[in-house]
Amino acid sequence: MGSVPTSASHFAALPTAPRDEIFALLGEFRRDTHPQRVNLGAGVYCDNDGEPFPLDVVRTVEKSMNEKADPHRHDYTPIEGDQEFLALARKFVFGDACDESRLTSVQTVSGSGANHVGARFLANTIRPRRVWLSAPTWANHELIWATVGVPVHFYPYYNAETRALDFAAMVETLEKEAEANDVIVLHACAHNPTGLDPTKEQWIVLGELCQRKGIFPFFDNAYQGFASGDPSIDAWAIRHFAQLQPPIEMCVAQSFSKNLGLYGHRAGAFHVVATGEGCTPAAKDAVTANLAQIIRSEYSVSPRYGSDIVKAVLGNKDLTRKWQAELHTMAGRIIAMRVCLYEELRRLGTPGSWTHIIDQIGMFSYTGLTPPEVTYLKEKFHIYIHSSGRISIAGLNTKNVKYVAAAIHAVRSDPSLVTSA
Ligand SMILES: Cc1ncc(COP(=O)(O)O)c(C=O)c1O
Repeated sequence: MGSVPTSASHFAALPTAPRDEIFALLGEFRRDTHPQRVNLGAGVYCDNDGEPFPLDVVRTVEKSMNEKADPHRHDYTPIEGDQEFLALARKFVFGDACDESRLTSVQTVSGSGANHVGARFLANTIRPRRVWLSAPTWANHELIWATVGVPVHFYPYYNAETRALDFAAMVETLEKEAEANDVIVLHACAHNPTGLDPTKEQWIVLGELCQRKGIFPFFDNAYQGFASGDPSIDAWAIRHFAQLQPPIEMCVAQSFSKNLGLYGHRAGAFHVVATGEGCTPAAKDAVTANLAQIIRSEYSVSPRYGSDIVKAVLGNKDLTRKWQAELHTMAGRIIAMRVCLYEELRRLGTPGSWTHIIDQIGMFSYTGLTPPEVTYLKEKFHIYIHSSGRISIAGLNTKNVKYVAAAIHAVRSDPSLVTSA
């Protein structure tokens, strides 16, 4: 006889799961009604008024999409995605650096979806013994790789004392401990959270290391165009790896959230670069089929509104030029805000060296603010910052930068504030 059903919930003893800190912080910021509140948490670009910044080029495309009102605009895409979008997305990443015969691409739910589908695909196929992530990295990397059951290891990346990339330690660890068939996740540009990228010479060393040791590079490309303002410059590392001789296999997770401001529309792609014996059209078809099977079981097909916009922009030379000018404006405003914050801290004589703020690149700066300082800044000044001390420079503007610098100055000048907070 089976046991008698009880009225207790199946979930009564369910342990809670940690909430994503960035999204939780964003929720707190939105509930805060203080007039001087500042959001330096989420990696979302805002204009100089602290408002969202829908790109002009996106608005132009949306207008024409609305006018056209194509009856197919609400159709499902194929499981593997819209081929026209994928060809354009591929060209945007690889330029002419990789022969099309080596490339397989699928559309994904933006960069997070590409990271996840890619991780699941590699876990199923090449079955790595471990994945190497930078210490620190985007928090979702660890969660994604843990979800697919691949043991996560960290390579040294950030040196807290020098506030610089510890390239020697990174290479030493990988030389000693990484093995053939391990996966290494590399941020293609504008490393999140540190804002520190390897130099070209260092990328060359990493390429040779992966090639020699048989480590599988997994590029996460979420900020192409945001680091320098020029998408080709920001794709340099990926293109270098794709051109290595003898060639190696690798993959790229691509997002259009930041560079086209399509955050909620979830436009992205996952690209596999194959090579070597047996890399035949049939093998490529098998790669697509396996990726499609993962996608089908998880969310069936990708959203199309954002990818239709990407397709319209990348498929039209004039719109692409306009987009690149807007990218330049966004990257330029971020660089200017770095300089403003740095100069204001210097003018105030804030204890500590702040040159790292102008040395780092991309959307983020790893300030070196400690968790108690971050808490104090939120509670006393309504400034929202990730507990790691990472700030999104995109949340600074000419109206709030002095306020933020003054708050950092206050907390740094009087350590007793944080001990008593
Ligand atoms: C390093 C990195 N990878 C991937 C993503 C994915 O972003 P999305 O899923 O919005 O494309 C982000 C977003 O913050 C990121 O910082």
